[in-house]
Amino acid sequence: MKYFYLLLMMVALLFTAEVRADVIREMAETIKTPIPLKSGKNHLLNVTFNHTSHRGISCFTCHHMPSEKDGRYISCSQCHTNVGRSKDANSLFAAFHAKDSKHSCYGCHLKKAGEMPAVYGTTFVNCRPCHSRMTNAIQGPMTIKALSPLLDVTFNHSSHKGINCFTCHHKISDKGRYVSCEECHVSMGRSSEKASTFNAFHNKTSSHACYACHLKKAQEQPERFGQRFVNCRPCHQGNVAKTKN
Ligand code: HEC
Ligand code: HEC
Ligand code: HEC
Ligand code: HEC
Ligand code: HEC
Ligand code: HEC
Ligand code: HEC
Ligand code: HEC
Repeated sequence: MKYFYLLLMMVALLFTAEVRADVIREMAETIKTPIPLKSGKNHLLNVTFNHTSHRGISCFTCHHMPSEKDGRYISCSQCHTNVGRSKDANSLFAAFHAKDSKHSCYGCHLKKAGEMPAVYGTTFVNCRPCHSRMTNAIQGPMTIKALSPLLDVTFNHSSHKGINCFTCHHKISDKGRYVSCEECHVSMGRSSEKASTFNAFHNKTSSHACYACHLKKAQEQPERFGQRFVNCRPCHQGNVAKTKN
């Protein structure tokens, strides 16, 4: 069926040779060049798409629907107009992330990783290889600085892998979603108001807070976390106790 369409296309192109030769040349140039897909919200989420890495795949797998006005090879965003992290089929997010669709980037990559774990199991994992800048940004340890260096906390994303990003990064700012908590939680000192940094990390009931989740884990799985998540550990490594003495 695919070949039939391609043949039809080529026959059609032969009849309008002059104009079409330019179009074809232009198209060949376009698909040799990396295409930046920019995030409006956070530069760490920008993705570079290479047609060249997707050579064996039929054009129509991704360019799955012709538009009456502009032809087939147009930007996905011309039809996928809904913005934000919506599951709606019209959203741009779904076009790139729908898990069960063969047209979607993430859908195909997940399927490949499942079918060929030896080849793709490590490269197609989490948000890789698409959001590699973001993935790099969360590889290493981060120091969350307190007023006194004794209270600085080392935070590792790698210790929190199974947790949804939005549990902690629960709000979007003008600068994007994955910004420092201090971008909004600005007030200093041991305050329990919502805008305080201290509260963002130490609140005992909110699902966004470090301390609340650790307390809950210690209660739910005392054999596993009872010793590790006690007092001000593992965040302050005993420093709080020291400064108090
Ligand atoms: C793996 C998915 C995929 C495959 C396969 C694919 N493309 Fe694309 N193509 C894209 C994406 C994504 C864009 C960028 C769309 C955007 O800007 O929203 C694009 C853009 C283009 C553009 C530029 C459109 C514009 O913005 O003006 C052309 C032309 C194009 N593709 C042609 C082709 C042709 C011809 C083939 C087959 C040889 C092909 N593509 C195969 C995903 C794919
Ligand atoms: C001419 C309009 C149009 C263009 C261009 C277009 N789409 Fe779509 N797309 C649709 C429509 C309409 C649907 C919903 C109906 C359907 O599933 O076919 C859809 C559905 C999808 C779905 C399924 C979503 C879900 O939640 O099941 C994915 C994935 C998808 N498109 C990806 C893409 C990608 C990637 C591109 C660009 C390479 C693209 N689309 C370009 C119109 C378009
Ligand atoms: C139908 C399957 C399929 C779809 C759809 C698909 N990919 Fe891929 N992608 C692959 C395969 C297979 C590879 C590995 C190619 C290789 O090993 O050389 C790959 C490789 C990549 C890579 C790593 C190589 C590079 O170019 O940096 C990136 C990034 C990538 N894809 C992004 C995307 C994006 C973005 C989309 C959607 C616009 C997409 N892919 C859609 C199958 C797919
Ligand atoms: C196979 C490729 C691929 C994978 C894997 C992938 N994404 Fe994306 N994602 C894209 C593309 C393409 C875009 C569109 C470019 C952009 O907006 O940054 C995008 C955009 C986004 C956006 C929207 C940014 C905005 O400006 O609205 C968010 C949020 C996002 N991705 C989160 C994730 C998270 C979290 C993961 C890992 C669980 C993930 N993505 C995995 C391809 C991918
Ligand atoms: C357990 C809570 C938690 C989870 C889950 C989490 N993060 Fe973070 N993230 C943080 C904290 C805390 C920081 C450092 C903020 C600061 O410096 O105040 C951070 C920083 C970042 C930064 C760097 C921001 C900057 O401007 O330097 C990025 C990017 C990021 N996270 C992305 C992600 C992504 C993507 C996920 C999901 C795959 C995720 N995070 C999951 C808590 C979390
Ligand atoms: C874009 C601004 C913004 C960012 C960034 C942000 N927050 Fe918040 N946060 C708020 C606002 C506004 C509230 C109060 C309304 C609400 O609960 O949603 C809040 C509430 C909270 C609460 C509940 C406080 C209470 O007393 O109920 C916690 C805990 C929290 N944030 C933790 C975090 C953590 C941890 C981070 C960083 C990973 C973070 N926040 C990043 C704006 C933000
Ligand atoms: C939703 C639950 C949850 C939230 C929220 C959470 N954690 Fe954790 N944290 C865990 C779990 C579970 C572990 C144990 C992982 C393991 O078994 O190694 C852990 C481990 C740790 C460790 C010890 C391992 C290491 O990397 O040194 C530190 C320190 C830590 N978390 C700090 C924080 C900080 C700081 C925050 C807030 C910015 C935070 N956590 C938010 C669940 C959470
Ligand atoms: C789950 C992790 C976690 C636990 C457990 C924890 N904290 Fe913290 N704490 C943090 C983080 C992250 C910071 C750095 C935030 C900042 O001050 O910018 C911090 C900072 C502080 C600060 C400095 C505030 C400032 O303004 O500089 C004090 C005081 C503090 N913690 C006291 C405690 C005490 C006392 C305990 C034990 C009862 C405790 N913390 C347990 C994560 C934790």
